[in-house]
Amino acid sequence: CYRTPIMRRVPLLLLFLTLHRLRLAPAADQFTFDGFAGANLTLNGTAAVTADGLLMLTNGTTLLKGHAFYPSPLRFHRGAAGGGGAVMRSFSAAYVFGIASEYADLSSPGLAFVVARSTDFSTALQSQYMGLANAANNGNATNHFLAVELDTIVNAEFGDMSDNHVGVNVNGLVSQVASDAGYYDDATSAFRNMSLLNRTAAQVWVDFDARASLVNVTMAPLELPKPKKPLLSTTVNLSAIIDGGEAFVGFSSSTGVVASRHYVLAWSFKMDGGPAPSLNISKLPALPETTVPKPDPSKTLKIVLPIASAAFVFALAIIALLIRWRWHKYAELKEDWEVTFGPHRFSYKDLHHATKGFRDERLLGIGGFGRVYRGVLPVSGVEVAVKKVSHESRQGMKEFVAEVVTIGQLRHRNLVQLLGYCRRHGELLLVYDYMPNGSLDKLLHHQDGPVLNWGQRFRIIKGVACGVLYLHEDWEQVVLHRDIKASNVLLDAEMNGRLGDFGLARLYDHGTDPHTTHVVGTMGYLAPELGHTGRASKASDVFAFGVFMLEVACGRRPVVQDEHGDHHLLVDWVAERWRGGTVTDAVDPRLRGDFVVEEASLVMKLSLLCSHPLPGARPGVQQIVQFLDGSAALPELSEAHLGFNLQTLMRNQVLNSLSSSSTVAGNISDIPAAR
Ligand SMILES: Nc1ncnc2c1ncn2[C@@H]1O[C@H](COP(=O)(O)OP(=O)(O)O)[C@@H](O)[C@H]1O
Ligand SMILES: *[C@@H]1O[C@H](CO)[C@@H](O)[C@H](O)[C@H]1NC(C)=O
Ligand SMILES: *[C@@H]1O[C@H](CO)[C@@H](O)[C@H](O)[C@H]1NC(C)=O
Ligand SMILES: *[C@@H]1O[C@H](CO)[C@@H](O)[C@H](O)[C@H]1NC(C)=O
Ligand SMILES: *[C@@H]1O[C@H](CO)[C@@H](O)[C@H](O)[C@H]1NC(C)=O
Ligand SMILES: *[C@@H]1O[C@H](CO)[C@@H](O)[C@H](O)[C@H]1NC(C)=O
Ligand SMILES: *[C@@H]1O[C@H](CO)[C@@H](O)[C@H](O)[C@H]1NC(C)=O
Ligand SMILES: *[C@@H]1O[C@H](CO)[C@@H](O)[C@H](O)[C@H]1NC(C)=O
Ligand SMILES: *[C@@H]1O[C@H](CO)[C@@H](O)[C@H](O)[C@H]1NC(C)=O
Ligand SMILES: *[C@@H]1O[C@H](CO)[C@@H](O)[C@H](O)[C@H]1NC(C)=O
Repeated sequence: CYRTPIMRRVPLLLLFLTLHRLRLAPAADQFTFDGFAGANLTLNGTAAVTADGLLMLTNGTTLLKGHAFYPSPLRFHRGAAGGGGAVMRSFSAAYVFGIASEYADLSSPGLAFVVARSTDFSTALQSQYMGLANAANNGNATNHFLAVELDTIVNAEFGDMSDNHVGVNVNGLVSQVASDAGYYDDATSAFRNMSLLNRTAAQVWVDFDARASLVNVTMAPLELPKPKKPLLSTTVNLSAIIDGGEAFVGFSSSTGVVASRHYVLAWSFKMDGGPAPSLNISKLPALPETTVPKPDPSKTLKIVLPIASAAFVFALAIIALLIRWRWHKYAELKEDWEVTFGPHRFSYKDLHHATKGFRDERLLGIGGFGRVYRGVLPVSGVEVAVKKVSHESRQGMKEFVAEVVTIGQLRHRNLVQLLGYCRRHGELLLVYDYMPNGSLDKLLHHQDGPVLNWGQRFRIIKGVACGVLYLHEDWEQVVLHRDIKASNVLLDAEMNGRLGDFGLARLYDHGTDPHTTHVVGTMGYLAPELGHTGRASKASDVFAFGVFMLEVACGRRPVVQDEHGDHHLLVDWVAERWRGGTVTDAVDPRLRGDFVVEEASLVMKLSLLCSHPLPGARPGVQQIVQFLDGSAALPELSEAHLGFNLQTLMRNQVLNSLSSSSTVAGNISDIPAAR
């Protein structure tokens, strides 16, 4: 039997249409995002939803692109797909955008609302291509997209009109129509400029009228309702553009060399005419006002920055080390009690500079206490001698410094002035007036160099006597020198003898019982009683002064060596000559007899008086000064006075003192006293 083809075809067509309808059932015809928190979007590239619910298309990194699409495709056709018979559906979209550029008037290209057949923009370029196309396919119909661009860069290649324009683009970056960003005032129809870049969110409406194939683009500040007159209006063949029934809607953006962030704050979409659902502006996440991040380091910066920061850290470390080193170099010890001695305290730095860092060329000599350097104080320009005394114990330091400072108050033309001190770890620095002519013993005992004449010698002796007198009598407390000797007498510019090192012997005493101080002084200058009492006195200073006078007059060291190599005390040696009546023979042969005989014998005789083994028999310094300047007559030396050998006596005494010191005293008590 024959059936009509139509009758048979109808159910098939119906079935086909039904199936077709089912297959094309739209995922959604309408949606609203008042903020994107929790939104289901297909994101790619730099696009992300921030914690605040902002759709961030670009994240402030340069030369990147970002895409965000509604996850499922939308059906833009009514009726059968493909061919000219298809009827397009109208649609409306509204969205709020914001651009945050690192500069107020310069940004990266911009962002675009896109209707596209595919979400795959992997071959598209960033920067001026806005993530939509590339140089090869720009404008090619195979791109299948319609875009509404918000463009903030003038790209001459695309015929851009300004750096603040809105355009309608089909398959490429060249706008079919474009306008400066802005809107037409409803009341006056006047155009009002808007800035895409001023970090203020604004709203855009994209309306497609399928019947007229017309796309209208409208924008306005957030606070305004949609203006009646669109900013742009142009016809597009949407069917041809998307080439099919389905397409995706979303946004594309990219950055160029400026690290901008492009945001979408809200978005609504509706198919089949009628305005897109209005956006609840009060619900919108705030556009971050100051979120413009510091420009992400560009490629060069990425290389330079680590190196620069490493160099910086390295430099800091070096500086820190230098500071530490300097601190260490100039470190001093300073304690509260020193405040009272403030004026007498020198900074180590000054002394370091004064002595050119304690250089060897500045070394004046090495004495019993340490090295002595010549220096010039930085500010005053005063020439000083800096004595470095190594001193480990902190104990007793306070007392010692107190004493040094007290001694610093002693001022006399025959004393080497102590100017101050400085304390460091394990080191004490004493600052004295500089004595240009050095120490007396060098002049006396150096075979080469100038010879001091008798007049100079006598003046030095008298000067030192005055210095000792000042120490013993003119100060409120008796200052014992304890180490009077030629090497402690320095000569100033006028060849005055000045006694130095006074009080320094106390340095040895620290922490020990003052009554059992160990013997301080120099062999040959030590008074015999020091051997058993160990206690320094004015008389022991006088004894040493006597030996000093002999040293100056005779030009010999206090311990002389005879032709047999035996050692004798200079005192005994002179006493022997005195007894032989040839005391002037003892005078320094380097004077070649050029001396005043009376003065020479006065000095010799006075020395012998001062060297009396009994402390009580020695004259006081007052008397010595009087004898020297002739205002008092020297007593005669008796035979008995000269009838002993001091060396033998001392040797015996030292031995005897081990058993009984009184016995020793008794042994020599029959020796007549000087007075
Ligand atoms: N104030 C000074 N001016 C110039 N030279 C000095 C001064 N003080 C010390 N000197 C020199 O430093 C050397 C050592 O001094 P010092 O320590 O006093 O010696 P000592 O401990 O043997 O008495 C001296 O021989 C002298 O040449
Ligand atoms: C931006 O996104 C890119 C790619 O997702 C990423 O490599 C970059 O670190 C991001 N930059 C910032 C500032 O988050
Ligand atoms: C997001 O949407 C897609 C497409 O509609 C769907 O497959 C997916 O399950 C959705 N994801 C979530 C988390 O809702
Ligand atoms: C981005 O798009 C490309 C091309 O479509 C795709 O290969 C890639 O997986 C996408 N990345 C993400 C994070 O969706
Ligand atoms: C457009 O792209 C296709 C495929 O990529 C290519 O074959 C065609 O030549 C291009 N057309 C133009 C005008 O560039
Ligand atoms: C709008 O801005 C453009 C570019 O800055 C300018 O040329 C134009 O005159 C402005 N128009 C109005 C109405 O302000
Ligand atoms: C940005 O421009 C809009 C209009 O174009 C204006 O209303 C707004 O006050 C401007 N904002 C700033 C921060 O200049
Ligand atoms: C588009 O704008 C024109 C005026 O330019 C207007 O007549 C028309 O109704 C608008 N269409 C839509 C869908 O808004
Ligand atoms: C739109 O494009 C399609 C396919 O390219 C074509 O068939 C149709 O005639 C075009 N419509 C108009 C109004 O140009
Ligand atoms: C907008 O949002 C606010 C707060 O979320 C709400 O109170 C208000 O009712 C909303 N307005 C509309 C028109 O939905």
